[in-house]
Amino acid sequence: MCGIIGYAGKNQAAPFILDGLAKLEYRGYDSAGVAVVGSDGNLAIEKCKGRLQVLKDKTQGGELIKGSVGIGHTRWATHGEPSDINAHPHISMNGKVALVHNGIIENYIDLKKTLSENGYEFKSDTDTEVVADILDFYYKGNPLETIQKVIKMLRGSYTLVIIFEGITDRIYSVRKNTPLIAGLGKTGNFVASDIAALVSHTKDMYLLEDDEIAEVSSEKINIYDINLNPIKKDIFKVDWDINSAEKEGYDHFMLKEIHEQPRAVRDTISSRIDENNEIILDNINLDYDYLKDVDRVYILGCGSAYYVGTAAKYAIEKSCGIPVEVDLASEFRYRFGENIRKMNPNFKGAKRESRVNKNTLVILISQSGETADTIAALREVKKYGARTLSIVNVVGSTIARESDDVIYTRAGQEVAVATTKALTSQLSVVFLLAEYMARKMGFVPDADLLDALKKIPEQIEELNKSEGKIKSYAERFKAAEVAFFLGRGIDYPVALEGALKLKETAYIHAEAYAAGELKHGPISLIEDGTLVIAVATQDDLYEKMISNIQEVKSRGAQVLIITNEGNDSAEEAGDIVYYVPKTHQLLTPLLSVIPLQQFGYYSAVMRGCDVDKPRNLAKSVVVE
Ligand code: AGP
Repeated sequence: MCGIIGYAGKNQAAPFILDGLAKLEYRGYDSAGVAVVGSDGNLAIEKCKGRLQVLKDKTQGGELIKGSVGIGHTRWATHGEPSDINAHPHISMNGKVALVHNGIIENYIDLKKTLSENGYEFKSDTDTEVVADILDFYYKGNPLETIQKVIKMLRGSYTLVIIFEGITDRIYSVRKNTPLIAGLGKTGNFVASDIAALVSHTKDMYLLEDDEIAEVSSEKINIYDINLNPIKKDIFKVDWDINSAEKEGYDHFMLKEIHEQPRAVRDTISSRIDENNEIILDNINLDYDYLKDVDRVYILGCGSAYYVGTAAKYAIEKSCGIPVEVDLASEFRYRFGENIRKMNPNFKGAKRESRVNKNTLVILISQSGETADTIAALREVKKYGARTLSIVNVVGSTIARESDDVIYTRAGQEVAVATTKALTSQLSVVFLLAEYMARKMGFVPDADLLDALKKIPEQIEELNKSEGKIKSYAERFKAAEVAFFLGRGIDYPVALEGALKLKETAYIHAEAYAAGELKHGPISLIEDGTLVIAVATQDDLYEKMISNIQEVKSRGAQVLIITNEGNDSAEEAGDIVYYVPKTHQLLTPLLSVIPLQQFGYYSAVMRGCDVDKPRNLAKSVVVE
C-alpha cells in the first residue's frame, strides 16, 4: 500500500509532488522518489531509500529537478527490499517511460520472462519495473494506445501514474483494484492514490473506476474507458480536512484497516494460488525430502501473532499430522538448550537431542518483524540448527532478514496499534502454508480449501457491510466491566484474539477460555448480567458449545453467539446470535474474527478510548 501522486501544471512539478508525498507517508515510507519530464523532453529521476526527508534533502525541496509534469511515490515494499534501486519511480531500460505503482502485479514473472527474451535487462527486484519495460516495449508514440494495450496484459492490482519521454505537458494514470483520484487544482491538475495527497490543493476530484484511463494536463483532465472512448464524470466534492483524509473518511485508522481486510487478504493470497489451484509460496522450498524428516514444528509469536500461531497449530496438525507446539516467544526461548539440565555423560540410553535441532521447523509470526521477544527466540533456535520460516508484514525487517525463509503478508502499512488486517493476512498465509506442506508430504490436495479461501475477501466485505449490528451490541454492553470469550478447537484462538481486542482498545477486562475449561474453575465468576461471547463455528464441536453456553446462561450470563449461517438452533441458546457466512471449517477464523474486531473497536469508541493509540501500548514492542 504505497502513496503515489502525479502533477501537470505551469509551475515546477517537483515541489508540489514532494508536498503531496508528505501527506502520504502514513501509507508507507521505506523509500521515496520523484521523476519529471524536463523542458527538453528528457526524463529526470531522483529516488532513495529512507524517509521522504532524505529525498527532499537530495533534491533541495525539489528545486534541483526541473520539469512541469512529474510523478512521485512513497513506498511500502511488497516485492524487493527497501533500497535505492527498488524505490519508485521506475524508468524503462530505454529511458522512454517512467512510472510509479501502488498494488501488486501477479503475473510479473511471466511478463519479465517475455521481456528478457526481447533483450530487456532489469535493475530492481520489483514487479513495477516490469510494467515500465512492457510499456516501453509497445510504445510507438501514442501513450493512450500503449496503456490500453498493456493493461490488458496485467493481472493483479495496480494504480499506475506514467510519464513519457518527449511529452512535456501531460501525465497518464490508470487503475485496477486500487484507488485513483484525479484533482482539479488552481496551479495545475493532479492524480493520487488517495485524497489525503490532494486535499490541501483542491476539493474537486474525480474518483476513477477500474480500467479508466486519465490523461492529465495543466488545463484539463480527460478520462477514457478501456476502449479509449471519452467518459464524462461528475466532480466529487471532498468535505474532509487533511487529518480525516489520511483515514479516507474513517474516524480511525483501526476502522479503516478493518475495512481494508478484503484487499489485504486478496493481495496476500492472489499471486500465491495459480489458475490450476497450485500454491506458489514465493521461493519457499519446504520439499518432501526436508519435510519427511521434520519431527516437530514450533510456532512462535507474541500477542495476536501468537493467537495466529494457535490457529495454525490446528491447521497444520489436521492437514499434515506433524505435531505442532505453539509458544509465546518470550517463554519459549528459556525452555531448551542451555537452560536444560545436562545429561550424565555415562548415561547408556539414547542421547536425546536438544528439543530444537536440524529436524525442527520453527515458524515465527510477526507483523512488524521487530518484536524483541520474537527476534530473541529466532536467534536462539538458529543456534541449534532449526530451519526458520517467518511470516512478516514489513519487508526487510529484522525477523524477515534473519530467517531462512520468509513469507510476506501484503496487508500494507498497519497504523493502528491494534492489529486487524495484518492478522487476517497472517491467517491466510498459515492456512495456505498448511495446505502447501500437506501437498508436499503427499496428502491428497484439499481443493475446497483454496476455493473457499478465494471467496474470503468478498465474505469479509459482506461482514463489513453489516457492522451496524455489532455497533448496536457494543452500545448495549458498553457498561460491561468484564467479558468472557469462549471457543473450542480453532474457535479458541479466535476467542483469545477477541478478548485481546476488547482489552487493548476498550480497556475492558476480558478473558478467553477453551469452552471446556470453564467448569474447571472460571465459571465461578459468572453472575447475573456477565457478558459472554461464544464463538461456535466448528460443526463437530457445536453441540458441546451449546451445552457450555447453557451452563453460563443458567448462571445469569448474557450471551452473544458468533456462529455459521444455518445454525438456527443457536437462537434458543443465546441472547444474541450473529451469523457469519459458511466457509471451509479450517478457514472460519478469517470470518469469525471480523465481528470481534468490530466489537472491540465500537466498544472503545463508545467508552471514549484512544482507539488508534491505546494507553501503555506501542505498535511494535522492541523491548523484552
Ligand atoms: C495486537 O493487536 C497487538 N498490537 C499486539 O498483541 C501485537 O500483535 C504483538 O505485539 C506482536 O507484534 P508483532 O506482530 O509486530 O510481532
